[in-house]
Amino acid sequence: MNATPVVVLVSGGGSNLAALLEAAKDPAYGVQVVAVGADRDGCGGVEIARAAGIPTFVCRVGDYTERAAWDAALADLCADYDPALVVSAGFMKLVGPGFLQRFGGRFVNTHPALLPSFPGVRGAQDALDYGVKVTGATLFLVDEGVDTGIILAQCVVPVEDADTVEELTERIKVAERAQLVEVVGRMAREGWTVEGRRARIGRSR
Ligand code: GRF
Repeated sequence: MNATPVVVLVSGGGSNLAALLEAAKDPAYGVQVVAVGADRDGCGGVEIARAAGIPTFVCRVGDYTERAAWDAALADLCADYDPALVVSAGFMKLVGPGFLQRFGGRFVNTHPALLPSFPGVRGAQDALDYGVKVTGATLFLVDEGVDTGIILAQCVVPVEDADTVEELTERIKVAERAQLVEVVGRMAREGWTVEGRRARIGRSR
């Protein structure tokens, strides 16, 4: 079976990307990371990709006069690699309608909370502030909202009484990486279906 081509978008340290690249070393995993894109220079994720010999691109919002032009350029850069799936692995930008027209339904994002609780950029902090006893990570298909897309997978992480935001964030990230690797691999190998808001990974029965 041919590996499924995947473009990964990053903004940060790239630990999720690193986990995907590690998994993809095994041909049975079924994923080939064909390119890594970022919205900023010098982020760890791009360095990880370069070190692994994977093509990279940077597409900065500030280089475009309009957000829609950035969005179209980002979509063009991804399309150059003809991916079956685009994975946002800590990509800290919202894409627009132009990008979603081309990659909607096959653009996945991982969020460090159990959506629909605690969307946005402070997932771990908001969970701590609210006082929940469990939180987690959510993998979802990106739509036009902020963390509102169809949920593909979720995993639960306990909140400990003495947690700092750093400790909780790190515990979430460990679970999040494992989930991302497992589910992206299954999506690549087995496909997925969506009915209403309910997604099912794997071949339909
Ligand atoms: C992840 O926790 C992701 O959910 C959040 O940013 C983090 C990215 O981490 N949006 P990394 O860059 O993959 O280490």
